[in-house]
Amino acid sequence: MDDQIQKHSQTLGSPFALALVSWYRSQRRELPWRQLFAASQDPFVVWISEIMLQQTTIQVVIPAYKRFLSIFPDVRSLAAADEEAVRLACRGLGYYRRFRMMHAAARELVERSRARDPVTWPRTFQAWRELPGIGDYTAAALVSIAFGVPKAVVDGNVERVFCRIFDLPVVPDPKLKKVFQKIGDQIIPADAPGDFNQGLMELGQTVCTKQQPRCQECPVQAYCLAFARDTQSMCPQSRKAPVYEDVRLHLLIMRRQNQVALVQRAANARFLGGTLGFPTAIEEASGSLRWETGGHWPKKTGVEVLGSFQHSITKHRIEAFVHQHEIQKEPEGLVWVPLKDLESQLVSNLDRKALKLIHKNSSALQLSAQYLNS
Ligand code: ADE
Repeated sequence: MDDQIQKHSQTLGSPFALALVSWYRSQRRELPWRQLFAASQDPFVVWISEIMLQQTTIQVVIPAYKRFLSIFPDVRSLAAADEEAVRLACRGLGYYRRFRMMHAAARELVERSRARDPVTWPRTFQAWRELPGIGDYTAAALVSIAFGVPKAVVDGNVERVFCRIFDLPVVPDPKLKKVFQKIGDQIIPADAPGDFNQGLMELGQTVCTKQQPRCQECPVQAYCLAFARDTQSMCPQSRKAPVYEDVRLHLLIMRRQNQVALVQRAANARFLGGTLGFPTAIEEASGSLRWETGGHWPKKTGVEVLGSFQHSITKHRIEAFVHQHEIQKEPEGLVWVPLKDLESQLVSNLDRKALKLIHKNSSALQLSAQYLNS
């Protein structure tokens, strides 16, 4: 296999890069971060997009990205914000840890710079890598797009493209990823690294797709061994399906007139640590409840189940039950929020799905709230 890669990679070089870059320049989607960077040359707008795109699809990122930049237009405003404001600005995107790290990195960058001067940005792959929340892919994307550094991006999409170019019907592993990184770094053109990398991403997302690749539209079809041998569907082989852990969660909806109770989840909670959300308990194998909220909470949930929904967090397949709960003795630490403000206060998608259920059931809730308050 190594021989095949070696031999074919020597034939790629600049014609491959040229074909990819010219295709990207003529076909690229006008995504907001591309337009903003073209207009401002501000690395901040690239950085924020790359953090959001780490775990979230482009369609979901676009509106959240615009909203975020309208709240935090530059690195100084982000560094000056408190954690809650950042959390709210990122609501609905999930995987909040990345935004906590982004915030920490913004503070670090601002601290390093003099108060009135523009922030000094790291300009190398290594310097970005040392900041919180920046892995190989993000650092490569950032330095290539914002600083013209020729460092190739390699993620699952790029691995698929390369597996096909080299006709490798294998499951990509870390060793192969290193080989692809080396090849990418060799063929990325010094005069257009950002367009080459974004071309690779775009190709993987829109043409060299997992199912039914559009080979007739591919700008690098002439270099693709899998196309020549008609083996695209075998390259790469799929990873084994991940092993999921099933979890049953219970969320409590406690109402007082038009207000609903939220709690701050413990920082070391198993799920969504530190977020403000509905009181949450994990159902243990014995059927008893383990609360994620600290303090004294009921051993059983109320009887009325508003509904349930499926949700996943990393490798956990969650079945979440939403209960309306009557309050006999109010547990400590509740934050009462008007129902109409919940949408703007809830950060995690788990809580936001529960909120949808509340709205769906709101007439029933109103009735029982009247009953409870009468
Ligand atoms: N995925 C990660 N980074 C991206 C970018 N800059 N453009 C499109 N998709 C991406």
